[in-house]
Amino acid sequence: MDLRETVSFITGGASGLGAATAHRFVDAGGRVMLVDMDAAAGEALAAELGEAAQFVAADVTREDEVTAAITATQEAFGSLHVLVNCAGIGLAMRTYGRQGVHPLDLFERVIRINLVGTFNVIRLCVPVMMRNTPDLEGERGVIINSASVAAYEGQIGQVAYAASKGGVVGMNLPLARDLARNAIRVVAVAPGLFDTPMLAGLPEVARISLGKQVPNPPRLGQPEEFAQTAQFIVEASYLNGEVLRLDGAMRMAPR
Ligand SMILES: NC(=O)c1ccc[n+]([C@@H]2O[C@H](COP(=O)([O-])OP(=O)(O)OC[C@H]3O[C@@H](n4cnc5c(N)ncnc54)[C@H](O)[C@@H]3O)[C@@H](O)[C@H]2O)c1
Repeated sequence: MDLRETVSFITGGASGLGAATAHRFVDAGGRVMLVDMDAAAGEALAAELGEAAQFVAADVTREDEVTAAITATQEAFGSLHVLVNCAGIGLAMRTYGRQGVHPLDLFERVIRINLVGTFNVIRLCVPVMMRNTPDLEGERGVIINSASVAAYEGQIGQVAYAASKGGVVGMNLPLARDLARNAIRVVAVAPGLFDTPMLAGLPEVARISLGKQVPNPPRLGQPEEFAQTAQFIVEASYLNGEVLRLDGAMRMAPR
């Protein structure tokens, strides 16, 4: 797909990887709808990006709010071709720790936002993508999901997060197969350690030390490098049903 011809719906678009993707897509001539629960950050970024961007507040787990956000996208830009799912939360909690057993509601909350929310937005965007006239490559839409290397090497305290991202990896191929006849591709990215607000809570020394664990290049990933990969996925028509690790060859240790 040619980004200049696309409207992208970017969840988690107010921060980190989603915000960097919005910047890159607008720079490449695309139009974007930023979808996030953080209205202050989302509106500020939309204003910065100008006419090619708008913001709508929505919780990805809510059918009514996502439906309203999709309607707002159609009203603003006429269509929707690319979905980038970046909304997500982290959690550090052991199965059994000093505070006792892992509270079930916290486990469910992470699954609900990272996995159920991702699927919710996909299922609601697909009928809109299906209405697109196929482009020169015959494509109607592209869906990009955020997994994580934690899907493969979840660390101590990442049981809920790793399970949620394992779900994103697991549904990738069946989604691509389900949507093949609709000419919609599905590709997931499994980032390693990226320098976003999600990691900003850590002290500077810890972030530098984490970066040094990456074989090559020995540093944290920059959000722009996720955005570069997202652009590649949109443009590479033969790429489908795959999960791309984006991690500088890092394999997470138990802690
Ligand atoms: N940063 C990393 O190192 C890293 C590594 C692997 C995977 N990821 C994944 O990439 C995605 C983006 O991460 P990030 O680092 O940019 O995080 P971030 O915290 O900077 O941004 C996440 C955004 O999602 C929004 N959000 C949270 N819950 C939401 C909900 N229910 N509905 C709508 N919006 C919601 C937040 O408001 C925030 O703006 C996440 O799914 C994360 O798990 C990040």
